[in-house]
Amino acid sequence: MDHELHGRLDELQRDPYPHYTRARRTEGLVQVPELDAWLVARDADVREVLRRPEDFSSANALTPDVLPSPAALAVLGGGFGGRPVVVTSDGARHQELRAPIVRGLSPARVAAALPYAAERAAALVDAFAKDGHVELMSAYARRLPGEVIGRIVGFDPEDVPAVVHGGHRAEELLFRRLDEDGQVAAAQDVVTMQHILDALIRERRDRPGADLADELIDSLAPGDGELTLDQRHELVAHLQNLLIAGHLTTTALIGSTVLHLLRHPRQWELLCAEPDRIPAAVEEAARYDTALQGFRRVTTRTVTLAGTELPAGSSVFVAFGAANRDGARHPRPDEFDITRASGRHLAFGFGVHSCPGSQLAREQLRITLEVLTRRLPGLRLSGDHSPVIMRPTMIHRSPEALHLAW
Ligand code: HEM
Repeated sequence: MDHELHGRLDELQRDPYPHYTRARRTEGLVQVPELDAWLVARDADVREVLRRPEDFSSANALTPDVLPSPAALAVLGGGFGGRPVVVTSDGARHQELRAPIVRGLSPARVAAALPYAAERAAALVDAFAKDGHVELMSAYARRLPGEVIGRIVGFDPEDVPAVVHGGHRAEELLFRRLDEDGQVAAAQDVVTMQHILDALIRERRDRPGADLADELIDSLAPGDGELTLDQRHELVAHLQNLLIAGHLTTTALIGSTVLHLLRHPRQWELLCAEPDRIPAAVEEAARYDTALQGFRRVTTRTVTLAGTELPAGSSVFVAFGAANRDGARHPRPDEFDITRASGRHLAFGFGVHSCPGSQLAREQLRITLEVLTRRLPGLRLSGDHSPVIMRPTMIHRSPEALHLAW
């Protein structure tokens, strides 16, 4: 992608909403050069794509915006992974890859992790509660989800910071323009993370437990013999994908939920006075500024969508974030309103690929708002750091930084 196009992509990512509005109003579909795809922006059209996985394959779901340089690729060669994962698979293989994740994130497993999540949320808030100010992304939002998914997968808590850091660096490497040295350094951090994942996988093969890691290993490499190199690559790829899907998204939604509540102080006050409204506030925040704005699909044959004929091999960007602002489904779609009647948003997707971690994500948001409304009801956006800038990303939309005071 050339420099100018990348600059325009950066702008679109920081504020995609005007593009969505135009696309929803235009008959048929519009091609968006910055995304190198047809933009699917209406709620009904997004649902139609998600209902037809045989016609709209997920093979290109994780297409990077930037290809790593040869030097960075050489560093990545010393790591693991590079295999198709659940989110990029179709059909029977997709079902096979998804099953252990669904089991590992069952309601009972999620419920079992909640006391730990609540304890960590309280401890993270305790650490800054007396200060009168905080940058919430680094002090809280980038920490809680990694600690929680780390616990569910079965990591030693000491390994969690490097695993979380590696996930952020993988995103930077594939979706941001870094200079040559920056790319190599990011690739090194990714490889460090992959070696930690490989070590966990091999340890669990020798001493099985009952965590999500064990579900993945039992299902993808049945038996108890030593894992082949190929199996290790495959398992690291899955675990890495699961971790990134699990913590970066939740981090993003924590940041944007708190941002929008504090931009609407009366709604924040209402929430503090009536905490029973917290689950509805989480749904509204997930709808209003969707963390995972969209994923790609590629057509497997000639198909017609919204009256536009798409030849086989066409790339479409399925914009959950645009569907969630479609007035045909959500009245007053551009208003943030935690008292609105729930309108079945698409923030966690829909259909065969719908998010298997949505309950875990929702619970972490609930716990976060419970602790913040109880401990820091006087919370407000810090005037010294306005305006709040959004990160340029379609997959983990959130504030770059969130300076708060009370
Ligand atoms: C606020 C947090 C989250 C959001 C907004 C979110 C959103 C989504 C969306 C929209 C999809 C569908 C992708 C598609 O159709 O191609 C998805 C899939 C997925 N999510 Fe989440 N997610 C979140 C949290 C989590 C968590 C906590 C986990 C795991 C612990 C997780 C694991 C996954 C996985 C593995 C998939 C792929 C499923 C498949 O392809 O069958 N997500 N997520």
